[in-house]
Amino acid sequence: MSNPVALITGASVGIGEQFARQLSERGHDVVLVARDTARLEALAKEIEGRNGAHAEVLAADLTDPEQLAAVEARAREVDLLVNNAGFGTFGPFHTLDLDTEIREINLNVIALVRLTHAAAAAMVERGRGGILNVSSLAGFQPGPSNGTYSATKAFVTSFTEAVHEELRGTGVSVTALCPSFTHTEFQSRANVPAGSVPGFMWQEAPEVARAGLDGVAKNKAIVIPGTTNKVMGTLSAITPHVITRRLSGAILKRAGT
Ligand SMILES: NC(=O)c1ccc[n+]([C@@H]2O[C@H](COP(=O)([O-])OP(=O)(O)OC[C@H]3O[C@@H](n4cnc5c(N)ncnc54)[C@H](OP(=O)(O)O)[C@@H]3O)[C@@H](O)[C@H]2O)c1
Repeated sequence: MSNPVALITGASVGIGEQFARQLSERGHDVVLVARDTARLEALAKEIEGRNGAHAEVLAADLTDPEQLAAVEARAREVDLLVNNAGFGTFGPFHTLDLDTEIREINLNVIALVRLTHAAAAAMVERGRGGILNVSSLAGFQPGPSNGTYSATKAFVTSFTEAVHEELRGTGVSVTALCPSFTHTEFQSRANVPAGSVPGFMWQEAPEVARAGLDGVAKNKAIVIPGTTNKVMGTLSAITPHVITRRLSGAILKRAGT
């Protein structure tokens, strides 16, 4: 019998790279998607050598409609889709480059929606499959100086919860993973000021990826990895937005924006 196949977007580094490693260790063949072909090929070689799982490289910029369409076609064939690719931007919205903000929406929202649609339709027809959408605790409240990013992640969480409910009983699991600060390249790519977040709030990519994979295996609607994040998530959910947005605005101002 052949291995189940998982397609992971943003697999070249960070949490996505961990998804790929851990899925290969759990007996999946993996399809690795991101823009950096050299990094993907190095990871594929390592996975093939170490775990015996097959690793396929599918280099694509998911903000490019043609390249995204090629990944959608592959997503129709897989057993597990991990929509992980994403990036953030940091600073007052009117000062940020508008084209970059739009690209952020295209990657974090549009690509995720298109890939979910492609995979879900095929999985429901087969009566089995899993979709893991990587969201963020940032989506639990408005994020001053992080406005577009927080809004994209609010969309991802709400959308994923809705599809989870729609597909109840079909054999297809749909899960939103909502991490908070995780050591990856994310913060430097987003130009977040170094040292602005206290140490106890950070997690490592392997534990975040593991929580997501365990969650989709159990068909949880939402997974918040880590005790501190669970507390923050609960507080955000029960506190009025007028308080959370002012509080996060004040914290981010102190961080230097
Ligand atoms: N790290 C955190 O603190 C944190 C917290 C909450 C949620 N998250 C979420 O976790 C997910 C993974 O982020 P990470 O922390 O692992 O960040 P990361 O280290 O910056 O990795 C981001 C991944 O996305 C890929 N990517 C970026 N733009 C792309 C594009 N246009 N087309 C295809 N792939 C693209 C990157 O690969 P290439 O550059 O090779 O294309 C890379 O593999 C994201 O959705 C992020 O929003 C992260």
